[in-house]
Amino acid sequence: MKKYRETPIEITKEEFKKIGYQLIDTISDFIDAIDKKPVTTGETPGQIQNILGDALLPEFGMPVSALFSKTADLLLNHSLLNGHPKFLGYITSSPAPIGALADLLAATVNPNVGANILSPMATAIEKQTVKWLAEFIGVPPTYGGILVSGGNMANFTAFLAARTAKAPKSLKEDGLKNTPGEMVLYCPKTTHTWIEKAAVLFGHGSKSIRWIPTDAYNKMNNEILLQTIKDDIKNGKKPFLVVGTAGDVSTGVVDNLSAIAAICKTYDLWFHIDGAYGVPAAAIPELKNLFEGILDADSIAMDPHKWLYAPLEVGCTLVKNPQHLIDTYSSHPVYYNFSNNDEEPALNYYEYGFQNSRGFRALKVWMALQQVGKKGYVEMISDDIEISKLFFEKAAMHPELEAITQNLSITTLRYVPLEYAQNNEAKETYLNSLNEQLLNELQKGGEVFLSNAVVSEKYCLRGCIVNFRTSKKDIEEIIEIIIREGRKIHERLRKK
Ligand SMILES: Cc1ncc(COP(=O)(O)O)c(C=O)c1O
Repeated sequence: MKKYRETPIEITKEEFKKIGYQLIDTISDFIDAIDKKPVTTGETPGQIQNILGDALLPEFGMPVSALFSKTADLLLNHSLLNGHPKFLGYITSSPAPIGALADLLAATVNPNVGANILSPMATAIEKQTVKWLAEFIGVPPTYGGILVSGGNMANFTAFLAARTAKAPKSLKEDGLKNTPGEMVLYCPKTTHTWIEKAAVLFGHGSKSIRWIPTDAYNKMNNEILLQTIKDDIKNGKKPFLVVGTAGDVSTGVVDNLSAIAAICKTYDLWFHIDGAYGVPAAAIPELKNLFEGILDADSIAMDPHKWLYAPLEVGCTLVKNPQHLIDTYSSHPVYYNFSNNDEEPALNYYEYGFQNSRGFRALKVWMALQQVGKKGYVEMISDDIEISKLFFEKAAMHPELEAITQNLSITTLRYVPLEYAQNNEAKETYLNSLNEQLLNELQKGGEVFLSNAVVSEKYCLRGCIVNFRTSKKDIEEIIEIIIREGRKIHERLRKK
């Protein structure tokens, strides 16, 4: 007799084991030889579409084992591999293998981490993960928070908490129309695009953003920040939020956080740190000074799927007084029976953020933190920084490369043909075009994956090392690849 109702979606225990073992074999072989594969196949969307085919929605099912071999082939042989040691693009980390296993376990139990009663152990694990993340970067464990899908959401979650905290209490009922003065906010001009999305989506409009210029070190110019706040107050505006960046997306610069904190204190403004990329580096003892002021932040965004090497997706919002999250996100519809049933108050994560039903994204972070400990992470992050510095130094030493910036684990550089060593304006236009084409060729070529940054109007190649597989040897090889391809493109352009 069948144990459960007979359905086409159940997999028998024997089949599950067989396919599961096969899948694990395939995955472990893939990880073991990932460095032998191209970083990307460079296939066009059209080619990918051809490989995938154009089948109609299947009317009937197919055997699971055939489905798995087909799917493994599609994904393992036609994807961009950010787990490859020579993937240094954007800020997407190499995924920690333990994360893949943790996701399998999480999906098997499938707790709904929106409410404690639906996810007793998973809620407790998420709470501990948030506490550990706070501890990791050196803020008190009293900071509360929530795991979200990534950096955009971590920053959005904090943005709205800031608004609730600083707007009149009537905001919930009246919206923005009764705020005395237009609510305005401040951020360095290097801030990631999330800020524009937030201002637009949450009804402030992009004109509410004061983009503060940067100083000679590419940090937010805090004198201009201060003057802009004063001018706004004089003009009847209502400043409410200042964003400082701890590792800007293009070049990894950390703002002068303690100076921003002091300004926020003077004017009673919410101080948010976008540390989506860089804040894990605050755990490195030698970098403590760089992150001074972090303890004064009202909120911090931090992405385990960036520099803690968690597989996508997982970001985190940390808030000094987590009550602000509850004030912003909590609601109590009659059909929720999640509160006040016990003597102990329950932690219900749906009250801390945007989502109701929530997956168990904490598990992969929680397990990785225990697999390597704080010490293991500090070592890996420090090594990423060392390797990035080596990238910069190698570029600085090479006569055909110009090293542009190096901060945290991000290096920017560009290819400069020998005869273009002299400065002139025409040269800049040519070098920008040359380096843009070079980047495009490199990205398609599959030997290395870099992204770009524009620094002082120079189009640069950019390598961000949030990759525990990248070695110094990879960097030496990458330098060679850049030179070889740079020469080729220069040659081609000269013949035009
Ligand atoms: C500083 C910073 N903030 C926010 C984000 C957005 O993160 P996500 O892509 O996870 O939404 C990024 C992404 O690179 C970032 O570097």
